[in-house]
Amino acid sequence: MSARKPIRKAVFPVAGLGTRFLPATKAIPKELLPIVDRPLIQYAVDEAREAGIDQIIFVTGRGKTAIVEHFDIAYELENTMVERGKSLAVLDATRAVPGDIITVRQQVPLGLGHAIWCARAIVGDEPFAIMLPDELMVGTPGCMAQMVEAYNQVGGNLISVLEVPIEQVPSYGVIDPGAVLEGFGGALTEVKGLVEKPPLDQAPSNKIISGRYILQPEVMRTLENQEKGAGGEIQLTDAMARMIGTQPFHAVTFAGRRFDCGSKVGFVEATLALALEREDIGADVRRIAERLLRG
Ligand code: UTP
Repeated sequence: MSARKPIRKAVFPVAGLGTRFLPATKAIPKELLPIVDRPLIQYAVDEAREAGIDQIIFVTGRGKTAIVEHFDIAYELENTMVERGKSLAVLDATRAVPGDIITVRQQVPLGLGHAIWCARAIVGDEPFAIMLPDELMVGTPGCMAQMVEAYNQVGGNLISVLEVPIEQVPSYGVIDPGAVLEGFGGALTEVKGLVEKPPLDQAPSNKIISGRYILQPEVMRTLENQEKGAGGEIQLTDAMARMIGTQPFHAVTFAGRRFDCGSKVGFVEATLALALEREDIGADVRRIAERLLRG
């Protein structure tokens, strides 16, 4: 309906150390850990493509080259598979259109905000998406597609949020919600403020920030001028908080499920949930899970 600049670029920060998954992530990037048979990064890239985003920007670091390899053509593998009569369909989503994937390096992991800032020259003067691949968002339509739909209506900046039991709020970034916009089934809320890990008695809501954002390019300048925040890292939440009041800021409550695959428990939960839903292995996994639970 609008003449807003479309969202064509998504930044995937994948330069983190993944210390919570050591030793698994010593030589393998966390973002390549698979949920059943698809790496986390593949779920996130597919979600972006579903939302009409065709420029994928990886902010990588040392030891993360395998992520780029994953989206390349593997001639030897493919030739061997063809010779053996195997279908290449399983590799379809991994073949990028030439030029669609761009990488920049974050030499030192100075935090999420700094990782995003490293992509400033490629983002340029366009609104862009940010997708954290270790947060697995499962929904139809996908989380980013839901956000792009909201963006086409209200423009400005958007973050995806989820409602959690209030006692969990101190572990997350939460929004201070303003008015609920009409339409969107109550899923679009004005954002008055953002608070990182508030004590329970000071939590402004139970809506936690999950790993999907649509931001205006001005955030890059805010990040540039920012002091280091919690943990000596340059925080994205702080930069976004400083933009509230100068530009429209809304939260989209995601209609779907989110798995925090940056944590071990969340990763196991996602594996089990998605395995149980699979046509090919679901019934077997259910039988095994039931047997294990009987002890
Ligand atoms: P996390 O907070 O999960 O950090 O980053 P991490 O380093 O990956 O993992 P732990 O906490 O040590 O186990 C969230 C996202 O931001 C990226 C990560 O790769 C992940 O996708 N990130 C984080 C960067 O790209 N650079 C950073 O400096 C920090």
